[in-house]
Amino acid sequence: MKIIYTENYEVMSAVTAQLIAAQIYRKPDCVLGLATGSTPLGTYAELIRMHRSQNLNFSKVRTVNLDEYKGLSPDSDQSYAYFMRENFFRHINIRPENTHVPNGLNPDEDAACSCYERLIDDLGGIDLQLLGIGHNGHIGFNEPDDTFIMDTHAESLTEKTVRMNARFFERIEDVPTRAYTMGIGQIMAAKTVILIANGADKAETMARFAERTIDPHFQGSILHAHRNAYVIADKAALSILIKQAPQLISNR
Ligand code: PGA
Repeated sequence: MKIIYTENYEVMSAVTAQLIAAQIYRKPDCVLGLATGSTPLGTYAELIRMHRSQNLNFSKVRTVNLDEYKGLSPDSDQSYAYFMRENFFRHINIRPENTHVPNGLNPDEDAACSCYERLIDDLGGIDLQLLGIGHNGHIGFNEPDDTFIMDTHAESLTEKTVRMNARFFERIEDVPTRAYTMGIGQIMAAKTVILIANGADKAETMARFAERTIDPHFQGSILHAHRNAYVIADKAALSILIKQAPQLISNR
């Protein structure tokens, strides 16, 4: 695991976009695992810029998103399908049929999850998975638990996650309390994983993350067991870690 320090959000986003672009140049029909949330927005903006100014070509790229709220239609402006379309896909030359998000409208949880699982297998697995991290250490919607759940599954969101995500909804009561998420096994099977984090409000999370104890109560800690995982974080997110254990940061 390499923890890479960047000066600010813009540099974090540019470095991440360059690694994703390198993956696309190496394998034009690669499978990208993508994330929603505030953190990756700058990365998507930079990839859109590279598409426009450097002809970065997404025509063969396939994507699978980490998660989706149960009960939301892809047309709902709070759904992750909508988020991806608006913030990324409609600005690049990706084929809509090559982009995938779990089907939030399928009320049958087992069917929705096994279908997504099969889809990822049929695509040949994930080449590069982009991740944000929640304050409670969640990756995707894998919330703190006594175990790691390997497969795609339905998850009840913690109160804290619902509160955090309420900023995207009109009222907190509108935030769905269940979601479909890729499991830890699928994330860990990705050939490369890039976790990004920015801002002072993630500083404690990153200090906890760097402790290197694998603990399902902080699901992101599993990435310490991944052979090709990178953490790219900005100065603010690394502000505690850099004081406590600067040796854990690769480029300091
Ligand atoms: P954020 O969310 O990017 O909006 O901070 C990250 C997450 O909850 O996984």
